[in-house]
Amino acid sequence: MAIQDLQQIFDAKIAADVRIEPKDWMPEKYRQTLIRQISQHAHSEIVGMLPEGNWISRAPSLKRKQILVAKVQDEAGHGLYLYSAVETLGISRDEMIEQLHSGKAKYSSIFFCTPNGITLLPAQL
Ligand SMILES: [Fe+2]
Repeated sequence: MAIQDLQQIFDAKIAADVRIEPKDWMPEKYRQTLIRQISQHAHSEIVGMLPEGNWISRAPSLKRKQILVAKVQDEAGHGLYLYSAVETLGISRDEMIEQLHSGKAKYSSIFFCTPNGITLLPAQL
C-alpha cells in the first residue's frame, strides 16, 4: 500500500477519534514523538524515585521506612509500565537508557537533593 494511502487511513482514524495501536501504521514523526514523550515520562518516574530511595535508611521508624519503600516501589512500577508501553512502539529499553545517559533523552523532576533532604525546585528554575 502506498504511503499516501496509509496516511489517509491514519488521518481518517484520527478524525474519527479511533485509537491508534502501536502496530498500526503511523507517520514516523508521530511515532518518534510518542517515543520521546512516553520515555521522558518513564525516565522521570525512575529519576524521581532516586532521591526518595536515599532516604529509606534514614527514616526514623519502621513504619516510615515502609511508607517510603512503598512510594519508591510505586514510582518504579510507573517507570517500568511506561518503559513497557514505549517498547511496543519499536524501541528497546537499552536504547532508551542509552539516550538518557547520553543526554539525548530528557526527564523532568521537581525535586532535588540538598544536604538537608529532598526539596522542591524553586519556581524560577
Ligand atoms: Fe509516579
